[in-house]
Amino acid sequence: MNTMTEVASVPARTHAEKLEQAYAAVSDTYRGKIDDIYAASAKMRKTTRVYEGDWIANFLGVPTNAGLQAGTRPTFAVFQYQDVMNVLKDADTFTNGFILEGLGKVWDGIMILGMDGPVHRQLRALLQPAFMPENVNRWRPKIERVLREDFVKPMLGRKQADLMEMGLYFPVRVMYALVGFPEDKPEEYAQYAAWALSLVAANQIDKDKAEEGRRIAAEAVKKLYDVLIPQVKKRRAEGGTGDDLISRLINAEYEGRKLDDHEVATFARSLLPAAGETTTRTFGAAMTLLLTVPGLLERVRNDRTLVPKLIDETVRYEPSSTFKVRETAVDTEIGGVKIPKGSFVQCIVASANRDDSVFENADTFDIDRRQKPSFGFGFGPHMCIGQFVAKLEINCAINALLDLCPNLRLDPSKPAPKIEGAHLRGPKHVHVIWD
Ligand code: HEM
Repeated sequence: MNTMTEVASVPARTHAEKLEQAYAAVSDTYRGKIDDIYAASAKMRKTTRVYEGDWIANFLGVPTNAGLQAGTRPTFAVFQYQDVMNVLKDADTFTNGFILEGLGKVWDGIMILGMDGPVHRQLRALLQPAFMPENVNRWRPKIERVLREDFVKPMLGRKQADLMEMGLYFPVRVMYALVGFPEDKPEEYAQYAAWALSLVAANQIDKDKAEEGRRIAAEAVKKLYDVLIPQVKKRRAEGGTGDDLISRLINAEYEGRKLDDHEVATFARSLLPAAGETTTRTFGAAMTLLLTVPGLLERVRNDRTLVPKLIDETVRYEPSSTFKVRETAVDTEIGGVKIPKGSFVQCIVASANRDDSVFENADTFDIDRRQKPSFGFGFGPHMCIGQFVAKLEINCAINALLDLCPNLRLDPSKPAPKIEGAHLRGPKHVHVIWD
């Protein structure tokens, strides 16, 4: 392993296989017991405004948040667009703190997803500018270079690929570059990718495996901190003048408050799982739809202004995360159903994103539709802070493939890609060929 390119695309054969296995194991965990989540949730949306019970466990057959004990609180589920939007928007009534009960054990420090109220609002306001489009777009040349040089160009001679191989690695590689880690130390990147693997592999339901997974993840989380802290100190000593994420975070300020070194390191660390698998699955879904919806590939190949529309419609039509759970901080009520304080409310995103009272022909993948808010990146105060980074990466990946792989198309000798799963949906493989 000498060059960054070799390491970046596939850190090591065995390591790549392990990541593929870990990713496949997570997909299996969330495969669930139904074949068509959209049909199952549409039936509920039309008949039952509020389901009283654990719909996710009972109907989908998958666990909700890692580390969360099933059956510990009264549980309800909502399916309609407006109900899902109202719950996600009202973060004072429908809170996230419970997420730290499971994950918090591993992620001490800034775990923004599990924060509530003014503490969350202030931190979010401090972090937000670094992730707004005008700032994120300045990273485009760096992201384009990583995608082209480290991923697409090295595979060109093969004339065939499973695009999930690059899809598994580029989000981790891009985060490594954006955080500002050294570009001339492939062994450090390989280590970073190995930690990403540990974090994916930690997602288990089996109690013993979950405990072991959490132990390994906790180790990775600690080591990540140990490599991040010196980077943060170095950037601060340099005056935070760089355009990397750490420098941007060092300079972030809101109402006179700034982040200290510990906060910058713990937040940067938390981005590895937030930005990895989610982007892999969304890229896989976008490529699957691009390659399989009749006529779409030719249109997008010839008109790249359609790429953002392709990505937005993918996030509506095939959200990788099919539900979001919240806990009620007070007694409340939805559609006449009383929901006591301390209940879980399951927001079924897969249903709301296909609500035909809001989206015309909601079950049709249509990149020309006028986009309205949907929930693949969440909604309200916790809406994905990295959505513009994710969209930019996926955009650069699709453009790199269409530019560099002449006549890219499905491999007719392999099974067509299929987006699967009750939750954390995505294709396992996307086999393509080119001239
Ligand atoms: C296509 C890829 C991605 C998808 C589908 C996705 C999805 C989501 C969703 C649904 C949420 C809201 C969770 C909730 O409300 O419970 C979220 C939050 C978050 N995402 Fe993403 N994400 C993606 C990529 C990224 C990237 C690239 C980053 C970082 C650069 C990122 C960082 C975060 C963070 C920090 C939060 C927590 C925000 C908060 O609690 O205020 N995500 N993401």
